Amino acid sequence: MMSHPVMELENAIKKHALAAMKAEKEGDLEVALHNLRMAIEALRKIVTYYPDHPLVGMYSRYLRQYEKKAKEIESKLIPVGQAEAGEDEEYRVEVRDAGGNGSTPPFVMKEKPNVTFDDIAGLEDAKEAIREAILYPVKRPDLFPLGWPRGILLYGPPGTGKTMLAAAVANEVEGEFLYVDAASIMSKWLGEGEKNVRKLFDYARARAKEGVPVVIFIDEIDALLGVHSNEVGGEVRVRNQFLKEMDGLQDKSSKLHVYVIGATNKPWALDEPFIRRFQKRIYVPLPDKEARRELLRLLTRKIKLASDVDLDELAEMLEGYSGSDIRDIVQDAYMITVKELFKNGGKGEPRPVSMKDFKRVIEKRMPSVDKRMLKMYEEWSKRFSAV
Ligand SMILES: Nc1ncnc2c1ncn2[C@@H]1O[C@H](COP(=O)(O)OP(=O)(O)OP(=O)(O)O)[C@@H](O)[C@H]1O
Ligand SMILES: [Mg+2]
Repeated sequence: MMSHPVMELENAIKKHALAAMKAEKEGDLEVALHNLRMAIEALRKIVTYYPDHPLVGMYSRYLRQYEKKAKEIESKLIPVGQAEAGEDEEYRVEVRDAGGNGSTPPFVMKEKPNVTFDDIAGLEDAKEAIREAILYPVKRPDLFPLGWPRGILLYGPPGTGKTMLAAAVANEVEGEFLYVDAASIMSKWLGEGEKNVRKLFDYARARAKEGVPVVIFIDEIDALLGVHSNEVGGEVRVRNQFLKEMDGLQDKSSKLHVYVIGATNKPWALDEPFIRRFQKRIYVPLPDKEARRELLRLLTRKIKLASDVDLDELAEMLEGYSGSDIRDIVQDAYMITVKELFKNGGKGEPRPVSMKDFKRVIEKRMPSVDKRMLKMYEEWSKRFSAV
């Protein structure tokens, strides 16, 4: 299956970072360094070629951390005459001043991503639910004598806009937005998972006490339950710490505005106590026809289209495709014209994208979410959705 270059880079980063961690743990520093360098290369590409990527701030931070880590490993690999004392010592990275008083924990991205609700096609229910759950209590806490929900879970098939939605919340809320990738909380490189969870919430509470509403967004939250964990037993402690922190927020006496939005495409990996901590559980489905049309309109804004292009017809044809599938399709159709331009000498502008280009691309690409999987989301929704 073809996928978007950014996603390929993101996958490469994940893959190599995990491989590097594993190799390091097994004491194979050369393999660790090799993988680390591959991850660094992919991070550099994202940061350089996609400066508009909503998560570019987080990626730059990873880049700095990985570069530092690579230097450390390099210095260990260089034979320094006789083996120094401590060479066999367990090898781990110290996280400097993580959390502490008022400083942002290192696994958190604080910069506001440049995405708004208007950039997101469809998903009106989800947008509305988020507005209600966060914006109303922030504006008029006096109207909520019984408290208000602090946890929102966004779940649904891959590529449907969950991460985008959460990023857009950052721009709707006048407050602080903390983006956390669950896998990085679990990463030993950034300290103990359990402590990281505590630092994250300590930091959020401290800011909220100063009167700033804080939205914590934990992406791929199923990772907190251990799938990516590389420490035996660590995932249980992380999970329990997380449940404890969520209960603290929910405490009746707490009037602090700290909200937690979790996103996952594997809701069935979550256990019930975990699910219960999210009082709002919102399904983020595949786009319906209208949303597909709107998405096509948004995606083709900057592209020249031939007069035969009928977005309605395309929206009809793209039933079953996810938002990210549709983005890739538009990108690929446009690339046909760019490639042609280069074949013909690379001067001037590419020709407009025609209906035939779109059809050619769609024929070659199946929807990334299959029917069986959709059924699983629907089943899960029947049991657990709570809007
Ligand atoms: N509703 C939508 N409106 C606009 N763009 C969308 C929408 N859904 C998906 N996209 C496009 O697809 C890309 C991927 O979406 P996003 O990362 O939000 O998916 P996700 O639901 O978080 O997927 P995953 O479960 O795999 O993390 C976005 O960057 C965007 O280009
Ligand atoms: Mg996502």
